[in-house]
Amino acid sequence: MRLDKFICKSTELSRSEARRAIAAGEARVNGEPVTHEAAQVHENNLVTLAGQRLVPRPFRYLMMHKPTGTLCSNVDGVYPSLFRWLDIDRPDELHIVGRLDADTTGLVLLTDDGRWSFTITRPEQHCAKVYRVGLRDPLAEQTAARFAQGLLLQGENKPTQPARVEASGPREALLTITEGRFHQVKRMFAAVGNRVVSLHREQIGGIRLNVPPGQWRPLSQAEIDGV
Ligand code: URA
Repeated sequence: MRLDKFICKSTELSRSEARRAIAAGEARVNGEPVTHEAAQVHENNLVTLAGQRLVPRPFRYLMMHKPTGTLCSNVDGVYPSLFRWLDIDRPDELHIVGRLDADTTGLVLLTDDGRWSFTITRPEQHCAKVYRVGLRDPLAEQTAARFAQGLLLQGENKPTQPARVEASGPREALLTITEGRFHQVKRMFAAVGNRVVSLHREQIGGIRLNVPPGQWRPLSQAEIDGV
């Protein structure tokens, strides 16, 4: 972790205050003064600021039920940021793991542990995401085979990874994908001549959404370890 971030995570200092303290020569790593804010420090390093040993707060891991008409962004835009629903200390330290469109609802994971979020989002992990998809037309018979084979999305030249889809209602399907391309679900159904009219994420890896819209809760250790 960067030294300025380490200091923010162990004190009440803002990023700019931490940088000023580093530039002023107040930070030491394993006894040596470090004046470079981006210097990498490890949890095991002895980091002091003005002679005080710093111990970072533990990482945080949350699930949130994203309501419709909210943005997966730290700031408001055309719609309000979902951080408005997050009544928690230092929300700006958290980032979203796998964004959803403004009109998509469901499971969003938030953390300040970059290594954990990378584990979930790196393509080689093939982390399964389950979506409940409302469709304009009933699920066509060939769609499951086409999704299982992988298909080309408009403007791309690499087929999608094999995905599983099954009907869960007359115009509803459960889709499992292991990637996170831009607007992937909507574009997959567009590629087979259908149209997504509602989209809801139910699950990421072993983590299942179980809080009402607009609510959040910390993840259990089993959920954190099990993705
Ligand atoms: N795929 C989409 O098209 N939209 C989302 O919000 C998530 C996946």
